[in-house]
Amino acid sequence: MIEILAISGSLRAASTNSALVAALARNAPPGCRVTVYDALGRLPIFNPDEEGERTPAEAARLIEAVTRADGVIVSCPEYAHGVPGGLKNGLDWMVSRDAAVDKPAMLVHASPRSLFARAALAEIMRTMSFALYDGGALEIALLGKKPPETDTILAEPTNVLAMHNALSAFADFIAGR
Ligand SMILES: Cc1cc2nc3c(=O)[nH]c(=O)nc-3n(C[C@H](O)[C@H](O)[C@H](O)COP(=O)(O)O)c2cc1C
Repeated sequence: MIEILAISGSLRAASTNSALVAALARNAPPGCRVTVYDALGRLPIFNPDEEGERTPAEAARLIEAVTRADGVIVSCPEYAHGVPGGLKNGLDWMVSRDAAVDKPAMLVHASPRSLFARAALAEIMRTMSFALYDGGALEIALLGKKPPETDTILAEPTNVLAMHNALSAFADFIAGR
């Protein structure tokens, strides 16, 4: 079983990015399990003085979850042309560890226009030595959609197939490493 950890960079209750990662978890192909990490909002602000034996429990849980996973998927909004602070904070807790090193990762997108955040996140994750999957990116346009419409869009057969195919391609990428 290929274990994938999916992280949404949005803390909003009605987040489209969180809806997308939840839908990925529901549509995982056989042999692949997607688990959602939803505790970015509980992480303390990263401080290098709090590493090693002083690592806060919530940060240790994130690091452990990424370490255990065979691959990581991230879906994140763009704030002021950048990566949301909560997600960057979560990634910062992993910078000086081994969790990210050679860890397969795939970015998926819920907003077609968030090109600055996509580029910045890819640069950050490559710098952290994630093995970024650069096959065709999954993009499902959910920008501005409210939950009922988001759910309807994510349940459309073409989108279910797109999620299934993206996960299969990522699982192949993981298995081939
Ligand atoms: C404070 C703030 C700043 C934003 N800045 C941008 C931006 O620079 N570029 C952009 O495309 N969208 C921007 N947006 C819109 C969000 O990226 C967009 O609504 C996204 O779909 C929200 O994701 P979510 O539904 O997962 O919370 C911003 C939204 C907020 C709240």
